[in-house]
Amino acid sequence: MSQTVAPALTFDPARLVRPAIHDLPVYTREAPPETRPDREVRLSWNESPYPPSPKAIAALAAVAAHNRYPEFDAWSLREALGRYVGAPAEQIVAGAGLDNVLETLMALLLEPGDKVIVSEPTFSVYELLIQAHGGETVNVPLRPDFSLDAQAILDAIDERTKLVIICNPNNPTGNLLDPEAIERVVFEAPCVVAIDEAYAEFAGNSYLDLMKRAPNLAILRTMSKFAGLAGMRVGYGVFPEQLMPYLSRIMPGFCNVSAAATAAAIASLADVEYNRAIVARIVADRDALAAQLRQIPGVTPLPSATNFLLVRLPVTNAAPVVQELARRGVYVRHFGNPDHHIADCLRVSIGTPEENAIFADELEAVLRQQEQAA
Ligand SMILES: Cc1ncc(COP(=O)(O)O)c(C=O)c1O
Repeated sequence: MSQTVAPALTFDPARLVRPAIHDLPVYTREAPPETRPDREVRLSWNESPYPPSPKAIAALAAVAAHNRYPEFDAWSLREALGRYVGAPAEQIVAGAGLDNVLETLMALLLEPGDKVIVSEPTFSVYELLIQAHGGETVNVPLRPDFSLDAQAILDAIDERTKLVIICNPNNPTGNLLDPEAIERVVFEAPCVVAIDEAYAEFAGNSYLDLMKRAPNLAILRTMSKFAGLAGMRVGYGVFPEQLMPYLSRIMPGFCNVSAAATAAAIASLADVEYNRAIVARIVADRDALAAQLRQIPGVTPLPSATNFLLVRLPVTNAAPVVQELARRGVYVRHFGNPDHHIADCLRVSIGTPEENAIFADELEAVLRQQEQAA
């Protein structure tokens, strides 16, 4: 005879789940409109509109031993990444996307109540990961011109501050931050400073060299943007030598990177010419789109060193414009927090020239429609 138990008495998820998770907002992305438009143009996630190197696709297809685990320490991948950036493989930690590397960094540093400084508006995943690890996000906002306030960051540091994250170029504003301000924070902060260079290839700018003079500096990168490998999930960080004995204790087995993603990433990194040509093309298309947008009355694309543009619109709140664009099958992002001073903007990823043209035409039409309705 089977016995029935009363699970409610013995299983209480709210008691089991860590308190930090209870207040965590669910990380969602905007759902597509209820009636799916016939034509969809996805310019909302800063992906590459182009496939990865043909060599990466061939390497992916050639992966045969799906029944075998990849290398335990992801050494070949870390070596290839090290060659690419000019850093020792020993100092590289890879992950299933940069998000995963950020998570490893939080797991390394944060006890409940520890602090991490970020400068908003910036990449919102930082805050979620900090909170999930029981940490406290200390926001030292960018100035209204989106410049980094080095003095305010240094003033905000106390004995609980473990990490400062600087996103350069910054997402979602697209600008490069002042080198003097960055260097001041790196040299004067008595904690780890991580520079998120997810868009470095588009900016042609990196602080990797600064690691030679700064023992507290980590550089974070991804294959998602310039290499067109967002779906493969390969990110990495170059970490201070002195952190490696600790990092190697918590680095996930296989670095969480599959054999298939490893093969694609290594082949892609070797095809420098292809990647360079794609980056040059996206940068040229970005500048062409910015020029086209400037022709629309009241529309101002802001300077960008990335594969996206933050675009000011002649409205106080861009949400209705972004919703109407979505209804028409053109997906872009809106950041509505009034404290961030970009509620009148939308962020558009650079697509193919055809996609960019559709976006510009639809934006112009939506703004005209809304002006007539007003
Ligand atoms: C600034 C920044 N950091 C990290 C990431 C995450 O990259 P990945 O796809 O490697 O997880 C993104 C993705 O949009 C980003 O914009």
